Amino acid sequence: MLVLIIERILAYQRSVAIVREIPGERYPFSSMSIPGAMLPSSCWNPGRLVRWNKRRTLYDKNPNAEIVSELGYIGGYPVLISKSPEVAKQLLGFKTDFDKEEMIMNTLAPFGPNVFATNFHDWPRHRRVVQPGFTTSLYHAVWTETVNTYYDCMTTEKWEKEKSFIMPDVPAITSKLALFLIAKCGFGIHLAWNEQVGHKVNGMSLPDCFNTTSTAVVLLAMLPQWLFGLPLTSLRRLNTARQSLEVILQDLIYKRRTEGVENIDENANKDIFSLLLKANDDEKGSRAYLTDRELVSNVFLLLLAGYETTSRSLAATLALLACHPEEQEKAYQQIKSVVGSVRDPPYEDYERLPLVQGCFLEGLRMFPSAPGMIRIAVRDTILSVPTYDGKTRTVPIKAGQFIWSDWIGIGYNERVYSSAYTFLPARWLDPETEPLINFSYGPRVCLGKKFAITEAVGVLTLLLRDYRIELALKQGQTSKQWREKWEREGQESKIGFGPKRFPLKFTRRAAI
Ligand code: HEM
Repeated sequence: MLVLIIERILAYQRSVAIVREIPGERYPFSSMSIPGAMLPSSCWNPGRLVRWNKRRTLYDKNPNAEIVSELGYIGGYPVLISKSPEVAKQLLGFKTDFDKEEMIMNTLAPFGPNVFATNFHDWPRHRRVVQPGFTTSLYHAVWTETVNTYYDCMTTEKWEKEKSFIMPDVPAITSKLALFLIAKCGFGIHLAWNEQVGHKVNGMSLPDCFNTTSTAVVLLAMLPQWLFGLPLTSLRRLNTARQSLEVILQDLIYKRRTEGVENIDENANKDIFSLLLKANDDEKGSRAYLTDRELVSNVFLLLLAGYETTSRSLAATLALLACHPEEQEKAYQQIKSVVGSVRDPPYEDYERLPLVQGCFLEGLRMFPSAPGMIRIAVRDTILSVPTYDGKTRTVPIKAGQFIWSDWIGIGYNERVYSSAYTFLPARWLDPETEPLINFSYGPRVCLGKKFAITEAVGVLTLLLRDYRIELALKQGQTSKQWREKWEREGQESKIGFGPKRFPLKFTRRAAI
């Protein structure tokens, strides 16, 4: 133990020495510390919004290469931050000298290790069991359920008969949509828009306890277990939510097993969960076999991954379309020519709507719901970093050094995306455009990428087919003023990054 601690201190000192040579930001605590991450972003504390707030200026600190450092004088691990996709590929690719770090992984694992929260040595077991759930028939189901959920939402919210209406909290609607879709297509759980159907434990339904647990995963990872025994209502509620969620997810596994996963065939229910259980059963007796607790943890991770990320970027895309009526019109014209104005699009239309897909990818580039990825060097190594004179610079990296691949920085990097501050969905029709990094890269690339894009294209197609989307401006406010205020004050970073509550106006295109 003592050796480990000494080793850690030495690694820290070595990385401080390296980081000092790279210009960057200096704070009392770096963002790799509890105060640095939890206190609000300000001129003396990085907080969680630092990369967003400083997206225009951060890299000016280093006029030589696309990398800066962040150092805490009092505490926090030193971190290197890069806005280069080339660096991202070195961190995330195959045969890399970088891996995930335990403390950070634990924040997404309130029920223990899962496919996301595992190092390279244990990860293949989880991926082997989870991956078979992602099939072409899943994407078909995602599309069909998106159409069903859209109508369910419009009817229940009583918007379907309105010529025009204000959606008061756009991210709340995209979140609910995303949760319902992952519940249905991932786990065969049908949630109706106007009620909380299903099994309740301790008076809490699945959406109740999932929402409570998911918004507090970082707290759950950091607070000692005994604190939850204290008579503090909010902590007690959080603990009850976590325990109830575990019971609901365990029951789900038990119930599906009783129905007989071994009988899953061509005609059976093929949600992600059934295929995951079947893949796990096939591993019985091998090292890859996951315990029930590991299954619960993976189910939680899939709910979380399938919910927070897609919904935030989709909400941002809707706002961007409202800010850019000319781009909205182009997407609408494509929808009109492929889908028409009345019929519901079949899944086959998905591939024929590349500009609608471009709108979502552009929303994700400009408002990356996963704003970056952190990795730790597992041995001494080097990074090749692009310089501003078109060359590369070699940066020596010591074992134990944290590197943040900054996807806000990459998205707004003018070398990579020209006119980076402009919403240009058509850039994604050009095969020369640098592929989006936001679903990660390499062996641990996002398993739900196609799920998310299918869902987003479905929602955007239906909304744009039926409505013109506009900003809900205050008296005398211009669209430019709205956008500036929204970018400055309207974003938050919890598990994912993206817009807080904001309204939009929807006006029917055709008479009902
Ligand atoms: C816009 C939506 C999404 C974004 C931006 C996104 C982003 C990411 C990123 C960046 C990673 C890599 C994490 C890392 O390397 O540490 C990841 C992994 C993952 N994502 Fe997504 N994701 C999205 C939607 C989804 C959906 C809808 C699902 C499931 C239905 C999903 C399931 C997963 C899983 C299972 C992993 C772990 C992969 C592994 O480590 O093997 N994601 N996602």
